[in-house]
Amino acid sequence: MAKRKELVVVKLGGSVITLKDQNRLEINSGNLERLAKEITEAWKAKGFSLVVVHGAGPFGHVPAKKYELDKGLKGDKQVIGFSETHASMERLNSRVVDALRRKGLDAVAFQPSAGGILRNGKLVKFPVDVLENMLGMGLVPVAYGDVLFDEERGVSILSGDHLVPYLAEKLKAGRVILVADVGGVYNKDPKKNMDAKIMKELSRGNVHEIKEIGSSRGVDVTGGMEKKLEELLRLADVGIESEIISGLEPGLLKRSLLGGKGLGTIIKKKT
Ligand SMILES: Nc1ncnc2c1ncn2[C@@H]1O[C@H](COP(=O)(O)OP(=O)(O)OP(=O)(O)O)[C@@H](O)[C@H]1O
Ligand SMILES: [Mg+2]
Repeated sequence: MAKRKELVVVKLGGSVITLKDQNRLEINSGNLERLAKEITEAWKAKGFSLVVVHGAGPFGHVPAKKYELDKGLKGDKQVIGFSETHASMERLNSRVVDALRRKGLDAVAFQPSAGGILRNGKLVKFPVDVLENMLGMGLVPVAYGDVLFDEERGVSILSGDHLVPYLAEKLKAGRVILVADVGGVYNKDPKKNMDAKIMKELSRGNVHEIKEIGSSRGVDVTGGMEKKLEELLRLADVGIESEIISGLEPGLLKRSLLGGKGLGTIIKKKT
């Protein structure tokens, strides 16, 4: 089997590919098509191995909240919710896979709940060997935030932001890029504060400079930007840098995939 090339892990935020801000269960097909095109163009030009993870937007956050999946398995309600939330995420996933395939990428859906196990919300098992085999063939696995079996709580939500650093570490990614509906991490929520300033680089050394960080306007059960940053700081601790960039600015993801840096917020180890 061909040895795989340098791995890039890309997360397409639910805030970009759905109408999360408006809490509407709809795909932002303009953004999705454009990002799929940018990914494919960069992939064809540079030839890296690629794992795509996408977030949920209302497709996951709304049913997960309705069925209180973040509180664990209490009864039948969560069993119904598991099925419903997963089905909703699969619908979104098939649209992402289709968009990438139509542009010419050999994308393949990768269902996290089929092989992943959580313990208190943290991944303890994931079929990375299957992913390795797919990458070796030149396929592009497309995983997503999902509802998983949890050894302690019965069920828990696996957020795309938890899956990204897990995969980046296990698969030894060279680059980790997350796109969101904002330009990176700011010192205050940029959607609420006109004077918010972007943090070009973040590490455990200057994270205290952030005055306000939270979630989006839409329903969110996985902690929004705050949890995302927490996950990425942990990834930086093991020596893997990541960058959060805007998925709304045309061309930015392509530039980042082609090697551009400093386009949003870089999360790195304290120097
Ligand atoms: N200090 C901050 N800097 C940047 N964004 C912030 C900050 N505080 C809060 N936010 C909010 O975080 C949101 C992005 O997080 P969110 O979880 O909604 O995106 P996502 O991860 O792309 O979506 P999903 O979880 O559905 O995949 C932004 O819309 C922004 O309003
Ligand atoms: Mg999020």
